[in-house]
Amino acid sequence: DFIKKYIDLLAMHKMNTFHWHLVDDQGWRIEIKAYPLLTEKAAWREGTGTEAWDYFVGPAVEGKPKYGGFYTQEEIREVVQYAADRFITVVPEIEMPGHSRAALDAYPEMYCTGKPYERKPDDEHYLPPFCAGNDQSFVFLENILEEVLELFPSECIHIGGDEAPKHTWEVCPKCQDRMKQEGLADTDELQSYFITRMERFLNAKGRKIIGWDEILEGGLAPNAAVMSWRGTEGGIAAARSGHAVVMSPTSHCYFNYPHDAPTLDKIYAYEPIPSELNADQAKYILGAQGNVWTEGMITPTDVEHMALPRMSAMAEVVWSKKEHRDFDGFTKRMDKQYKRLDAMDVNYFDTRQKK
Ligand code: ACM
Ligand code: ZN
Repeated sequence: DFIKKYIDLLAMHKMNTFHWHLVDDQGWRIEIKAYPLLTEKAAWREGTGTEAWDYFVGPAVEGKPKYGGFYTQEEIREVVQYAADRFITVVPEIEMPGHSRAALDAYPEMYCTGKPYERKPDDEHYLPPFCAGNDQSFVFLENILEEVLELFPSECIHIGGDEAPKHTWEVCPKCQDRMKQEGLADTDELQSYFITRMERFLNAKGRKIIGWDEILEGGLAPNAAVMSWRGTEGGIAAARSGHAVVMSPTSHCYFNYPHDAPTLDKIYAYEPIPSELNADQAKYILGAQGNVWTEGMITPTDVEHMALPRMSAMAEVVWSKKEHRDFDGFTKRMDKQYKRLDAMDVNYFDTRQKK
């Protein structure tokens, strides 16, 4: 129900895309019939949810409190249709090769070690990725994507790609063999091999991939779009080389952080087309996106509190000409928008209270 309410808010703001981040280290949220452990195990973590900011919170343990859940395929179909009825495309994200602890703890044979992961207290790396030398990793992800494609008609499929640590690949015999066979100079190129292989699979099915800007490392897959989050450089580089880009730099577009950063006026001042690009290159900038990562948000009202009225500012950023933007005018017009949000019972952050 909350996802539908969120889609209503997107529609009200003329947003045309809902990027649905369905899997991560802390949980797997989509039913996949071929792999039942993804919902039996990977959808659940230890604890009550309130410890979500503990990045290393592990899988649920028998007999202890567990937190989680998932969307059934039936529910997903309903959401996709609900969004389509409001002219919104749902772009699903299935993360690879990193941010996959939940899936890999359920199917540990695809870790480089082939064994369940155990965190060492002095290990400061991100959580280990799928083994890129093990063909099983690709079969697994392709089988998952087969089901994902049945549910999501969007041309674009998000394959993640961010924050994959490569230290396990450096020492894994299977990954090292792959690098030799494929003539890859380093593990950046191995990541590029991984993403390009998945791109080939999806392109053959008539779909395109989009990934976080790390997919530029080691060489961008030939037809990939880039979501620029670690600043604007990734988006600039991708647009210059003729690849489609969605701008979502953390500085302006991350709505999961407290309201002092980014502030509403900072979001409003964001210009999605980087000044570094000429008019031809600028055509590759599809638009901008606000991100609302919810691993640290426990209730729907928490999500509303972080996303609104930031979403209103972002809507004006992406739907108005730069020369027409006027923060004072926006602030005045927000008085009416707050009434609409009240009518929808939205727990927005009321910036007027600060005065
Ligand atoms: C991201 O925020 N890791 C894309
Ligand atoms: Zn490996």
